[in-house]
Amino acid sequence: MSNRITDLEQLKTLLDKARSRGRNIGFVPTMGYLHDGHLSLIRTSASLHLFTVVSIFVNPLQFGPNEDYDAYPRTEDRDFALAQNAGADLVWFPRKQDIYASQSETTVLPGSLAHKLCGLSRPAFFGGIATVVLKLFNIMGPCHSFFGEKDYQQLTILRRMVLDFFVPVKIVACPTVREADGLAMSSRNVHLKPKDRHLALSLIRSINMAQEMARAGQLSCSQIRHSLIEQWPAGIELDYMDFRDDTQLANVERVEPSTRLFVGAWLNGVRLIDNASLWMQQTTRLQDSLS
Ligand code: PAF
Repeated sequence: MSNRITDLEQLKTLLDKARSRGRNIGFVPTMGYLHDGHLSLIRTSASLHLFTVVSIFVNPLQFGPNEDYDAYPRTEDRDFALAQNAGADLVWFPRKQDIYASQSETTVLPGSLAHKLCGLSRPAFFGGIATVVLKLFNIMGPCHSFFGEKDYQQLTILRRMVLDFFVPVKIVACPTVREADGLAMSSRNVHLKPKDRHLALSLIRSINMAQEMARAGQLSCSQIRHSLIEQWPAGIELDYMDFRDDTQLANVERVEPSTRLFVGAWLNGVRLIDNASLWMQQTTRLQDSLS
């Protein structure tokens, strides 16, 4: 049986207890409305025998003025049951006043990593995420914390923050979980209309095509991008399609082992993002045979 708590002091007591019994802590921060992507993070933490804490907190600071903070689904009972079944030891629903006390005014301002990709259309987004995650990490204390690669820019910014602020948290990146048709799991997929599903797959189709091209020897990012743009369908608005390295998120010209393709789009008001490495095993073999 998992514990379900809101109280901060109770959380600290339960963490102390777990630590005194020799358990290391695994932490999965979420905004709730859990899907299989979140559950795979919880399962991974539990499979490592960590005392697994899931937080469920819809963070107001990462929503822009015209975004869906109020409409964001809050499904606490359902989320608790799912997290418990996936192996969580403790599910924590932080109170807003504990996380953002009335006088609180200090925030985290990420640097250049936040001023590209999703940061261009959502300027306050990553500052809001870094701020809440630093608060949560400081409450949790030393732990392993699990994040999905689907939100790769978030993952990169948080990895940087942990290094920059000497936070005693080890970030563990977990692979993107996909629906049967390849769509990356996201809480927002529920807003997709069935008739839009085919268009929503444009992101993973582009990524697969880029991987195929790289595998076949086309390593020029601008050539690959040109082909992807040519086949990008009408009806889904492309926000970005960028080839970037996997640590600094800097633009790259040629596909290398560290290259990822990042795609962001809008589909009838629904935000979709996806990304993946373009360096497949066969690319490595091809590169070896070319050199
Ligand atoms: O990825 C999310 O669900 C959120 O950005 C996070 C990390 C829980 C911070 O609110």
